[in-house]
Amino acid sequence: MTDRYAVFGNPVEQSKSPTIHAAFAAQTGQTMTYSKQLVALDGFSEAAEAFFAAGGKGLNITVPFKQEAYSFAARLTARARHAGAVNTLALQDDGTILGDNTDGVGMVQDLQENLGWQIRGKKVLVLGAGGAVRGVLEPLLEQLPQHVVIANRTIDKALQLAKGFAEMGYLLGCGFDMLEGQQFDLVINGTSASLAGEVPPLPNDLLTADGHCYDLMYAAQPTPFLVWARQHGARAVSDGLGMLVEQAAESFKLWRGVKPETKLVISELRDNLT
Ligand code: ATR
Repeated sequence: MTDRYAVFGNPVEQSKSPTIHAAFAAQTGQTMTYSKQLVALDGFSEAAEAFFAAGGKGLNITVPFKQEAYSFAARLTARARHAGAVNTLALQDDGTILGDNTDGVGMVQDLQENLGWQIRGKKVLVLGAGGAVRGVLEPLLEQLPQHVVIANRTIDKALQLAKGFAEMGYLLGCGFDMLEGQQFDLVINGTSASLAGEVPPLPNDLLTADGHCYDLMYAAQPTPFLVWARQHGARAVSDGLGMLVEQAAESFKLWRGVKPETKLVISELRDNLT
């Protein structure tokens, strides 16, 4: 039987994962199928049990099930444990289900390899303190930035996150108003403010002369944060489409043991964004 994979989400109609994994499978000569499945909001573990019981080999997990997938996995990689969320489930040889989180490595790979941006030694600001940010902090800190400031609308969440990852690097939590007078080389937007067409309230002189701005979200048009970045002197900006493809490539590697090429897949997706 052909090895089966899927993405579970709600909503899931918009997911590009089937397109990405079909491209990876064709490119690496792997025989597999990859579908998307709309899962009822209260039906995650039941659907995941059924998928694996029917012989499924692996899942990607998207909003809003990443925490539930974390609880579902029998074993976790260290990065998934620290992130408190799982975006990849993989059936192991011994029949157990491993949970991993490839979002953070996907982001780092996109920043450093695809975009050629440096993280090491840089002053980094992360906007937001929700699940998306939690998922990328450890791989970000592993690249040894000079420091990471986490700024969030709800200050307490930024403080908690900074405390939780304190052993992994030099990081501080704060509110947006405390950014006044500080400058950063790399600003990563992990808030969902763009969904409401908004940008967090940021000081005008937030970026250094070498300021780079990255949005974890992507869209056919520049996100509101990236428009802000251009208007405030960013040297380079990027949305998170590359991260999407890179996290998929890491999942694919975990499942199939081969790492696909991503550049062409990213550019094809970009050309077809609507
Ligand atoms: P996700 O999984 O996408 O991270 P989340 O856990 O709900 O979703 O987190 C959303 C993040 O975006 C939070 O940091 C949220 O700020 P609060 O913690 O104060 O709620 C942030 N956010 C959402 N809308 C925002 C807005 N309009 N301005 C600033 N921050 C916003």
